Amino acid sequence: MESASVSSQAARLVVLVSGSGTNLQALLDAVADEGYGARIVAVGADRDGIEGLDRAERAGVPTFVERIPDHPAREAWDLALAARIAEYRPDLVVCAGFMKILGAPTLTAFPVLNTHPALLPSFPGAHGVRDALAHGVRVTGCTVMLADAGVDTGPIVAQEAVRVYDGDDEHTLHERIKAVERGLLVETVGRMAREGWTVTGRTVRIGRPRDPGRPDAARPRAV
Ligand code: GRF
Repeated sequence: MESASVSSQAARLVVLVSGSGTNLQALLDAVADEGYGARIVAVGADRDGIEGLDRAERAGVPTFVERIPDHPAREAWDLALAARIAEYRPDLVVCAGFMKILGAPTLTAFPVLNTHPALLPSFPGAHGVRDALAHGVRVTGCTVMLADAGVDTGPIVAQEAVRVYDGDDEHTLHERIKAVERGLLVETVGRMAREGWTVTGRTVRIGRPRDPGRPDAARPRAV
């Protein structure tokens, strides 16, 4: 079992974005409340000129951009991104619409949370909403999960369902999913920051380990 525990300090979040950043905005709004238990210490992106970076700048949060084309190979980008993130000493990295797969340098250094607009393990990948519609499902939704080396394959932390309406297209359905996704992400990040979490196999539980004194229980990591 791997576990993370809470300290009295607000957890330090680095949020990664690639687009409009409405999930980031929901987190920026949530951390304005001291009782939320987390603060955003930096926002990173894989591209310039996106609304997500503007949102961070308007909120006075430091930003950084690490673009893949600026590096000779993907591995070099992975290392550079992990180094930029590490400068901010995050307790948790949150991918909020970050459209790149993170490599080992980031995944081994920090716990990473991701959000996806479908009910995993159905419809992973960059077109989760389109693929769900094409399949004809009547219920889809959103998933918040810990990131691993695969594409949307990490242990699931939280999910919420969204109905598909007759006449939905990718845009209308995605917008309805995102409205739910923002709330789920804010709630999940806040609970993880305040209560810690444990991972046993693929099962994630938010809250303190039931019996931390047991010899097989991992030592809680400070968050
Ligand atoms: C979200 O639905 C996220 O799950 C997906 O892209 C969307 C990002 O939206 N990967 P935003 O940039 O937070 O508005």
